[in-house]
Amino acid sequence: MFETRLSSTSKAVQAHLETVFQDLPPSELRDAMAYATQGGKRLRAFLVVESAALFGISLEHSIWPATSIESLHAYSLVHDDLPCMDDDDLRRGLPTLHKKWDDATAVLAGDALQSLAFELTCHPKVSQNPLVRAELALSLAKASGGAGMVYGQSLDIAAEKTQVPLSLDEIKLLQAGKTGALIKWSACAGARMAQEDVGPLADYSEALGLAFQIADDILDVEGDEATAGKRLNKDESAGKATFVSLLGLDGAKQAAQDLVKQAENALAPYGHKAESLKEAARFAIARKS
Ligand code: IPE
Ligand code: IPE
Ligand code: MG
Ligand code: MG
Ligand code: MG
Repeated sequence: MFETRLSSTSKAVQAHLETVFQDLPPSELRDAMAYATQGGKRLRAFLVVESAALFGISLEHSIWPATSIESLHAYSLVHDDLPCMDDDDLRRGLPTLHKKWDDATAVLAGDALQSLAFELTCHPKVSQNPLVRAELALSLAKASGGAGMVYGQSLDIAAEKTQVPLSLDEIKLLQAGKTGALIKWSACAGARMAQEDVGPLADYSEALGLAFQIADDILDVEGDEATAGKRLNKDESAGKATFVSLLGLDGAKQAAQDLVKQAENALAPYGHKAESLKEAARFAIARKS
């Protein structure tokens, strides 16, 4: 069952992170890194583990890139919540890192989590083949940097300041960076580890990533703060261009459903082996947090 598999991946990631943090010197920084990585749905880790399983790669290997992407994602959230970005005080049901500690600790914990992510993709346990490890690290750098997640975040911040609302194509470009790039990296990780064609997983995850961000925008309007574990109703007041502001609630929901179908269809080459990835796509828009 999907929920059981997601929760077992989540537990494996948590346990793995704890062993990784044990290798760091005890410090406030280490405590802050551990704080930032706890909780969350761990959907990106799940995509890594399940895409690896498609190619017969076991958790013993896939746990490394799975933990890596959750570390990178946690860094992006810590920085996203800072006063100079979205200025949020609640994340995963707890005070944001800069509220619990301070801005400097949040910046530094984010920095260290980013470095840790690259360290984890390069661990020899990922693959005996150093080219596979290099390819994972290179693709993660591209997915996270100035053409990926950070690029999307910069478009998002810029969009708050423009007078002219973004077009649908501009929002899609913003999303493909901000949310899409890390989700795509996660789903393609299995094929990369197996040195197989990333094509079908790339198509799957492009549709999934877009559906996921549409669901995030819908949650911001309709969600429950206690369940979501983060502040909601922020996008409109911040003047953010979102799928909901552009398509309306019903239009956004329909678009998300169409994208999930598209994501499922992209997995056809893998037959029934891809069932849990299909469920992940359905979960991405049905989720309440
Ligand atoms: C939140 O991501 C930020 C976005 C990219 C929309 P998630 O909804 O995956 O957050 P967690 O990891 O489950 O807390
Ligand atoms: C955050 O997007 C995306 C990244 C951190 C890369 P949002 O600002 O929409 O995420 P939430 O709503 O705070 O989780
Ligand atoms: Mg943001
Ligand atoms: Mg935010
Ligand atoms: Mg949001």
